[in-house]
Amino acid sequence: MTERYIPALSYRWLTPLYDPLVAWTTRERAFKSALLEQARLRVGDRVLDLACGTATLTIAAQRAQPGAAITGLDGDPAILARARAKAAQAGLDLRFDEAKSDRMPYTDGSFDVVLSSLFFHHLNRDAKRATLREVHRVLRPGSWLHVADWGRAANPLMRGAFLLVQLLDGFETTADNVAGLLPRFMTDCGFVDVGEARRFATPLGTIALYCARKPAQGRP
Ligand SMILES: C[S@@+](CC[C@H](N)C(=O)[O-])C[C@H]1O[C@@H](n2cnc3c(N)ncnc32)[C@H](O)[C@@H]1O
Repeated sequence: MTERYIPALSYRWLTPLYDPLVAWTTRERAFKSALLEQARLRVGDRVLDLACGTATLTIAAQRAQPGAAITGLDGDPAILARARAKAAQAGLDLRFDEAKSDRMPYTDGSFDVVLSSLFFHHLNRDAKRATLREVHRVLRPGSWLHVADWGRAANPLMRGAFLLVQLLDGFETTADNVAGLLPRFMTDCGFVDVGEARRFATPLGTIALYCARKPAQGRP
């Protein structure tokens, strides 16, 4: 069966509302800043923002580390047009590529850091694993993946709030997130030092920040 592509807010006609809705409902500034603090980008780093959407994180990453080379990738040409316009408005010359996350147009070891925010809950279990294997391939050995996404609900209130996301984005793709399975999938796909670094309580549920490292060549 062909996998269903889930756009940023599930329905393409809602895409123009993406930025204000995410800003109001996810504590976006707080969790994206924390993700960038966690990533500690360095001068010269080649960084991929996987499923960059409208490029809010891509732009923040470039501002946090002007000496890094940041690329945004997304599978939706309409949202990439918004990303390009936003980056141009911010006066930044960023690279954006259109591709699916499980078939990225990069050679092995192309990136020193992969960032991803609010993305994995758009994929079913097979696609989550295929994407993690692809991220592992494009990362340089010894380098890190940093993910922010819906995670295990911190309490029943957070679990109840997350039902709204599930109604919009679907139950199949979100179930593994709220069951807290992303770290296990990362380990299954060859990552080491997998951990949950922080959690954020938001009006729509718990956002977790994860990190995972591709082993250095020949070593765990
Ligand atoms: C909720 S948005 C998150 C956007 C951005 N990372 C952020 O934090 O605001 C999810 C994004 O994933 C993209 N997407 C969904 N499935 C994808 C796939 N298989 N490959 C690449 N991008 C995909 C959508 O087009 C959308 O832009």
